[in-house]
Amino acid sequence: MNRGEVLTNQFTNVSSAGILRRSPTSTQRATSSARSLVFRPDPLWDESVGEQRMTRAFNHVPVLESEVLAAFRTVAPGIIIDATLGGAGHASALLAMRDDIAVLGIDRDPIARHAATERLAPFGNRARVVAGTFSKLVEFLRSESQWIAGREVVGVFADLGVSSPQLDDEARGFSFRADAPLDMRMDGTTGITAAEYIASVELDELRTLLREHGEDKFAHAIAKSILARQPKTTSELVTAVEVAVPMAARRRGNVATRAFQALRVAINEEVRELDEVLNGAVEVLAVGGVLAVISYHSGEDRVTKEFLKYQATGGCTCPVILGCVCGAVATMTVRRGGAIVASAEELTRNPRSRSARMRVGVKVLS
Ligand SMILES: C[S@@+](CC[C@H](N)C(=O)[O-])C[C@H]1O[C@@H](n2cnc3c(N)ncnc32)[C@H](O)[C@@H]1O
Ligand SMILES: [Zn+2]
Repeated sequence: MNRGEVLTNQFTNVSSAGILRRSPTSTQRATSSARSLVFRPDPLWDESVGEQRMTRAFNHVPVLESEVLAAFRTVAPGIIIDATLGGAGHASALLAMRDDIAVLGIDRDPIARHAATERLAPFGNRARVVAGTFSKLVEFLRSESQWIAGREVVGVFADLGVSSPQLDDEARGFSFRADAPLDMRMDGTTGITAAEYIASVELDELRTLLREHGEDKFAHAIAKSILARQPKTTSELVTAVEVAVPMAARRRGNVATRAFQALRVAINEEVRELDEVLNGAVEVLAVGGVLAVISYHSGEDRVTKEFLKYQATGGCTCPVILGCVCGAVATMTVRRGGAIVASAEELTRNPRSRSARMRVGVKVLS
């Protein structure tokens, strides 16, 4: 266990408030069938390679950093939950900006937590690192109540997806840039690998998953090819996609980009995780508290946007001309209409910021 790290991921599956109700998507159904969670040794902790990988430099440039700081600059003193701690780039900037706030950082990835714990050491007891998934936000508040010591939660921040070190670590199988076993788990200690998922998924489910991630015309052909070839490595997955898409129809970039993203989202149950962290955030935030979410693909951004809209209207769809007669009550206001995107300066400095979209809401009702 890392220095100063508290392992608290042993929760049973308690659902959060469920303010936004949505029927399960096919992605969720697909992943839940593949989610007979098997506990296996984590390759990241293998004694021969583990130490070297844990100490490798964690190079992740925080995206929209000044915009994130601006979002939380005026919150009341209290706790900010960083639901996606990563290497603690945003968390350390928040702690440096305000000495009257403390950060509870969550990450499911042991390598990220190791890097974050080191980076946050100078902040002493103002930073707390916990292990697990952010869908368990509400439970973390309970288990960390002693450290929280009655302080209010004045912010929840989520910088979704994977970090640069996760993508760059070839052995984790997130990227088509290097050949590696098809793993894709953010937490290598639990769940099934992408290769195992492919071995158990039905054609219909895989096709729907690919469609949800932008593969429309060739989703069926790609799904069939993947199931026929049963790729076990990243390069075998690229080949399985390549042979299903005619040269003339290939977009810019790698032909398998969307398939990689779709599988990663399924393996890590990212759709359900996002739904639950959004609901959890509304539940734990104090009035005046800020929720800020950075998304990197349109599916995540749409979910966040719709969620904030729902909170801001209380679900009211009454015609404007009549005024609200349904009694809906808003719990949040949305800060600024559209999404916040990277400045031209950041775009040149950090290509990863290209697809980032941040949405911010403020809790108005408890
Ligand atoms: C984009 S990175 C965050 C980088 C961070 N903001 C920084 O400045 O270093 C996303 C992080 O969130 C973690 N993560 C993604 N989904 C998660 C989930 N459902 N629960 C917990 N951690 C998650 C990943 O392991 C990764 O370390
Ligand atoms: Zn209404």
